[in-house]
Amino acid sequence: MFAPMSDATANRPPSGGTDPVRRIAALRAELARHDILYYKQAAPVISDFEYDLLRHELNDLLARHPALAPATETPGDDRAEGFAKARHHTPMLSLDNAYHPAQFATFITRIQKLLPPGEPLHFVVEPKIDGLAVSLVYEHGQLARALTRGNGATGDDITRNLAALPALPRQLPSGESPATIELRGEIYMTNAEFLRINTARADTGESPYANPRNLAAGTIKLLDPAEAAARRLEIVLHGIGHCDPPLFATLGEFRQALQRWRLPTVEFFQHATGADAAWAAIAQLDTLRHTLAYPTDGAVVKLDSLRAQTLAGANSKFPHWAIAYKYAPAQAQTRLRAITLQVGRTGALTPVAELEPVELAGTTITRATLHNADEIARKDIRENDTVLIEKAGEIIPRVLRSLPEKRPPGTTPFDFAHRVAELGLEAVRPPGDAHWRLTAPTPAQHARHLAHYASKHCLDIENLGPAVAQALVHTALATSPADLYTLTREQLLSLEGFAEKSAAQLHTAIADSKHRELWRLIHALGIPNIGGQTAKDLARHFHTLDRLANATLADYRRKQRGKKGQELTSEESIIAGVGPVVAQSLLTWFSNPAHHELLRRLRTAGLNFGDKNAPESPAPAGTPLSEKTFVLTGTLPSLGREDARALIEAAGGRVADSVSARTHYLVAGQNPGSKLAKASTLGIPILDENALRALLNATAPDATADQPGATADQPGAQQEFTL
Ligand code: IVH
Repeated sequence: MFAPMSDATANRPPSGGTDPVRRIAALRAELARHDILYYKQAAPVISDFEYDLLRHELNDLLARHPALAPATETPGDDRAEGFAKARHHTPMLSLDNAYHPAQFATFITRIQKLLPPGEPLHFVVEPKIDGLAVSLVYEHGQLARALTRGNGATGDDITRNLAALPALPRQLPSGESPATIELRGEIYMTNAEFLRINTARADTGESPYANPRNLAAGTIKLLDPAEAAARRLEIVLHGIGHCDPPLFATLGEFRQALQRWRLPTVEFFQHATGADAAWAAIAQLDTLRHTLAYPTDGAVVKLDSLRAQTLAGANSKFPHWAIAYKYAPAQAQTRLRAITLQVGRTGALTPVAELEPVELAGTTITRATLHNADEIARKDIRENDTVLIEKAGEIIPRVLRSLPEKRPPGTTPFDFAHRVAELGLEAVRPPGDAHWRLTAPTPAQHARHLAHYASKHCLDIENLGPAVAQALVHTALATSPADLYTLTREQLLSLEGFAEKSAAQLHTAIADSKHRELWRLIHALGIPNIGGQTAKDLARHFHTLDRLANATLADYRRKQRGKKGQELTSEESIIAGVGPVVAQSLLTWFSNPAHHELLRRLRTAGLNFGDKNAPESPAPAGTPLSEKTFVLTGTLPSLGREDARALIEAAGGRVADSVSARTHYLVAGQNPGSKLAKASTLGIPILDENALRALLNATAPDATADQPGATADQPGAQQEFTL
């Protein structure tokens, strides 16, 4: 018997009624609802583990009451509108799950019955990566198609969105690749990338994404490949759908071929002969999985031999030759002391659970996000409740639910509107917005906005950091950025810690900020979702703040037309990096009369709105660098990163943060990072500083056509660079 690792069923949800017919119907309806939330909307409301328990309960009931079972059960359906559909060569099945040692033992017994007597049980054991199932088809070595699982038989064609996976080889080495191979794998997001995106969201006052799995699924399903490429996804391959001609006898051999072909494979891969060895590998992985860079929720145990797999067979939903052993997620119970409201820089109010400190998978948890008012209402989470918390995707704690059976008397449902009023906040929940937002900002928010406005990546007002911003708000000298421009030197001198010289310097720095580039002002306005790069893209596209302020949806989104000219449901971004969310954010911000007033005052103060001789006015269209995307890595011998960026942008190019299929050049210096390897895999031209300068000179508007300067496409440009 296999020793249990954790009590996976301790938090099993109540089973409801005892009448099997009614319970089966209720479970089916509940699961169908969660399938839609998970597969169609990529926004589940229960954890995978809870979902699996419901699914398992249904399967148990159906096994005991076969008359109530439908003829076939098929996996869920992730197909979405806006994608072409294509059939899988071999259906994409799901995996049966086990949660207890006893269920693992049942899997072993079933396999033994299905295989000829005496057939050895050679298994491989790997982590179950919590991502999005994908099928890649290579034809004659060339990546032809990527499909999601869809309904198992037909999936969505997501080939375009592989732009988010620049490192994936599009071509297998010649000579070795089969005529057709259908590879099965998982697209996922690392914990680090998930945290990066959520941290950026917190900075612009947006609620965080729930977990890396859903964000990966949501990203690959973005209709706009440019938006998808802005988030970094990874892929691993773990299975064969179809291979013509057949090349492999075992999964072990298959994995070696993947590695020769430079395709990514699962990093923990153990051979195990017999049930006990497989169990030991499952247990080993349970301790190791916390150290992996991506979320895993179980171990997959599979027969190694493809012949044995065929003998074991499959049902309509999953193969008999494999099983997923699901580890119980780290959960804990604690008391919810209070619900507080956290104000983001843009005024969004995020409810936060203040918890009695509790240990969870090695860390002490005292706070967890409650996302928004709807989430609290739906889960009926009340102050003083005992709540169940879980580390979703092993990183961020979340409140799973409250335990009403432990609820003390006298609690009342949490009333968001009432709490807002109680705190004396002026806030509204705009239609269609999940968040309440402050209409009258708090002093702290004013100070944060002033500090953001003055920061290095905005109007770069030296010595106006968070402390000075706070002092300006506290003394009522400035609450809005526009107030800065009417401050006198004497007023600055009145601030604590300021002397004649420092007051004069700040006064000059404020005055100087009027002449900064337009993109800096756009970034400084603090519009939700607008970071520095988007501000640059907007400045380059609209040229003046007035044109940006007067833009309508049609200026951002172009309806796609079908071959016959009919309007399709999908839309295309007109400006790279400005998808529907960003466009909506801009439209909302510029429709607020308070913001018009701010702009009016800034214009009166003499800020550069781009209608003068703005330094960022676009490079003449048609120069070789217009619309070219560069990525910088490592330290260049003489140019600082910002200098290089400025030179590239002045020549009409664009600087992106990460290498993707849409990168035109990588500029690499000393100690380059992983971007270099990625760029060389993708065959992107790599420039050193000299080559960059030569390229810029060659493309400068006054450069004559016969000027020598090397370009990256010419071998000379790269000769001094060592990979
Ligand atoms: S083997 C016939 N190995 O989990 C399916 N699947 O819940 C054989 N998954 O459909 C799948 N990591 O998308 C396999 N190391 C791994 C996996 C893995 C994640 C996914 C896969 C599968 C799903 C089932």
